[in-house]
Amino acid sequence: MPIQLLAAATDPLIVTDDVLSVPLFAEEPLSGAAAALDRASGGLITKLRESREVTGKLFESTLLFAPQGAAARLVQLAGLGERAKWDAGRAYRAAAAAAKAIAAKPRANVAFAWSDALTPEQRAAAIAGALNGGAGQDLYRAEKKLNPCERLTWLGSVPTDLTEGQILGESIALTRRLVNEPPQDIYPESFAKQAAELAAGLNLSCEIWDETRLERERCGALLAVAKGSSRPPRLVMIRYAGAGPNQPYLALVGKGVTFDSGGLSLKTPEGMLTMKCDMAGAATVLGAVSAIARLKLPVNILMLAGLVENMPGPAAYKLGDVLHARSGKTIEIHNTDAEGRLVLADVLDVALTHGAERIVDLATLTGACVVALGTDVAGAMSNNPVWQDAVLAAAGAAGEPVWPLPMFPEYDELIQGNVADIKNVGDGRWGGAITAAKFLEQFVGEKPWVHLDIAGPAFADKPKPWLDGGASGIYVRTLVELARQTMNDER
Ligand code: BES
Ligand code: MN
Ligand code: ZN
Repeated sequence: MPIQLLAAATDPLIVTDDVLSVPLFAEEPLSGAAAALDRASGGLITKLRESREVTGKLFESTLLFAPQGAAARLVQLAGLGERAKWDAGRAYRAAAAAAKAIAAKPRANVAFAWSDALTPEQRAAAIAGALNGGAGQDLYRAEKKLNPCERLTWLGSVPTDLTEGQILGESIALTRRLVNEPPQDIYPESFAKQAAELAAGLNLSCEIWDETRLERERCGALLAVAKGSSRPPRLVMIRYAGAGPNQPYLALVGKGVTFDSGGLSLKTPEGMLTMKCDMAGAATVLGAVSAIARLKLPVNILMLAGLVENMPGPAAYKLGDVLHARSGKTIEIHNTDAEGRLVLADVLDVALTHGAERIVDLATLTGACVVALGTDVAGAMSNNPVWQDAVLAAAGAAGEPVWPLPMFPEYDELIQGNVADIKNVGDGRWGGAITAAKFLEQFVGEKPWVHLDIAGPAFADKPKPWLDGGASGIYVRTLVELARQTMNDER
C-alpha cells in the first residue's frame, strides 16, 4: 500500500501526528524546527546537546516522549551530520534512516519538519528517502520488523518539491520491489508483463519481443543464455518521446537476469543466494523511465531490458559453444556465468538499430567491480570521455557514488577469441570489470556509451542505517538527473 504524502505549512509544534521528525546538524547552533522546539520545551535540546546525549551525527535518531510544547506524541531528533558534507545523496539517506528508525514500531502518522534545512533538490531527494526508508524486506514475514507509516506529512514544502519527491520515491520503490521479489514471482514473462502495465498506465509505447521475435531478430547471444531455463526470455522496449519524435533518443539499457545460477559454470550456494538481484539493471531503467515520464521531462528515452533466467537445464548453452550475436559478431563461450554481457550484447545492438544517439547501460555485471570499488560504489566505463563526464556529473548531482575505471586498448587483447571473434571472459581473472566492459564496447558501434557496473550497490547483503538490506533502488535518481542535463545541453 503506497504511503499517502501530504504537505502542510503549519508550525511544527502544533502537528498532532504520532511522530514529528526534527533535523539537527552537528556542531552548529539550533535553527528552524529544532530551535522552535528547544524554546517551547525550556531548552531541552540544548541540554541534550550539552550532555552529548544528542550530537546531530549523521543517522543518529533520538526519540523523545511528548516533550513540552510539542503536540505530537513523539519527537524524533534526526542527525544530519556536518552541513558542509551535505548533498542530495545524504538527504536521501538521512531521511531514509530517520523513516527506518521511526518504522521500528507501528506509527501511522509521521510528520517531517525538514524543509528549512534543505535546498529544493535536496528536499525532493529527502522526500523520496522518507518514502522508502520504512519499507523493508518483510514481504512474507508474519511479524514485521519494519512498519512503514500510512501517512507522511512534509511540513513547509512547496507543491513542486512534494510532487517531484513523491514521483522519485515511488519510482525507487518500484525498482526495489521488483528486485526484492523472489525469482519464483519475477521471471522474464512476469517482469515484461509488469513493464507493459506500467507503460500502458503512463501512455508510453511498449514492445515486448518473445522468443519467436527474438529468433527472427537473430538475437543469438541472448537466446543462448535462456536455453537452460524452462522460462522463456523477453526483451522490453519502452519509448518516451518528451522532446518530440524528431529529437535524438537517449537509450537506457538494463541487464535483466531474473535469476543467475551461473548455468553449467554453476555458482556456489553462497554466490547464488542473492542472485534474484541480477535484474537490478533492468529494474533501475524501468524505475527511471517511469520517473522521467511522470515528471514530463522534455527528453526522448528508449528504455530496453534484456530478460532471461540463467539455468543449467538440459538444453543449456555450453563451454566451447560459439554464439552468433545480433550484430553479426561471433562469441566463444568460456564460462556460462559471464552471461550478462551476452544478453547486453544483443540488447545494445537493438538500441543502435532503433535510433539511440547516446547509451547508458546498467548491469550487476561482475564481482570484480565489487572487489575494485567495494559494495557502495558503481564503476563507470565508457568509449567517450565527454559522455562519461556527463554521467559522472549527473551521479554527482544526485549524490550517488560512481567512479571511473580505465578502458585502455591493451585490455582488448584479453578478450580475443581462439576460434571466434571474441570470447566471453578475459584471459585470467584480473581486471574482470574492465574486460567485461571491453566486451560490451564491441556492440555499441561509434555511439557515446557509458556502462555502469552496479553489482556492489544494487543489493545490500546486510542492513545499513538507511536500508533494511536487499534492493537499494540506487541510480534511479542519477538517471533522472542525466535526463535533465541531457535536455539542457541539447538546447
Ligand atoms: N551476476 C554476476 C555478477 C555479480 C556478482 C552480481 C556479485 C552481483 C553480485 C555475473 O553474471 C557473474 O557471474 N559474473 C562473473 C563473471 C566471471 C565468470 C568472468 C563473476 O563476477 O564472477
Ligand atoms: Mn553470472
Ligand atoms: Zn549475472
